[in-house]
Amino acid sequence: MKKLFVALMLAALPLLSFAAEHGGPELEKVDIDVSDKAAMQDGARTFANYCMGCHSAKFQRYERVADDLGIPHDVMLQKLVFTGAKIGDHMSIGMQPADAKVWFGAAPPDLTLVARVRGTDWLYGYLKSFYDDPARPLGANNRVFPNVGMPNVLVGLQGKQVVGCKQIQVVEDGKKQYDPLTGTPLTHEACDQLKIETPGAQTEAQFDETVKNLVTFLAYSANPVKLQHQRIGTYVLLYLAFFFVFAYLLKREYWKDVH
Ligand code: HEC
Repeated sequence: MKKLFVALMLAALPLLSFAAEHGGPELEKVDIDVSDKAAMQDGARTFANYCMGCHSAKFQRYERVADDLGIPHDVMLQKLVFTGAKIGDHMSIGMQPADAKVWFGAAPPDLTLVARVRGTDWLYGYLKSFYDDPARPLGANNRVFPNVGMPNVLVGLQGKQVVGCKQIQVVEDGKKQYDPLTGTPLTHEACDQLKIETPGAQTEAQFDETVKNLVTFLAYSANPVKLQHQRIGTYVLLYLAFFFVFAYLLKREYWKDVH
């Protein structure tokens, strides 16, 4: 038994090292709730308005999104479909990958499954980490995806972000540090920080919410049946618990004479 356990742990080691190794800056954890329909509706709106110029979500149909998110079909067509597509169509776009490659240096990938490939923390960090960089062809760079081909499309909402110095709170062993006498946060100046230089249409908190909702929509899109799975999973576990009682009683009955 012990040997088996050790063998299993060893077999799991490569998974652990894979999880730890993402490179790049430390990613903020974001709590994504794919049962929050209001958040996903807001995310779908941002996606249609700001992303679908370049990115498709072609493994998904408008109708399915409307039904899952509780958006009436006519509202969906009016507010979220700009391509003249019908409600049953896939969420594809007109931009040709070959053209896009010339314009941006890389073709914008389809985003239906991106939340599975990259993870929600990565997406959240990526979408918040664009900053001004005149050295880049489109004037923008990204902390999480250095030298990315994508322009800073949310700059109007977030505002212009630059690399500069900022007071950040001292963290030791994962805990924020406070002055023991006054209780004020201990800070130090760090000079490679992203900070908003010119505010956009949203405050920082509002923008965080916008990006979180967008990531929630992308998480839903990558796994639209997650909630259904969880519900069915609960029923299965309840059934097994219920069945266990009878199986146990039956076992006791069979073994009565043997003992
Ligand atoms: C003007 C066109 C354009 C728009 C609009 C745009 N993107 Fe992009 N995006 C790109 C390009 C080009 C790339 C490929 C960058 C590269 O590989 O260097 C990209 C890459 C990405 C990636 C990285 C994918 C990967 O795994 O490599 C994500 C995620 C992404 N975009 C999300 C979004 C979201 C969300 C929006 C809407 C807020 C958006 N994009 C709007 C052009 C665009």
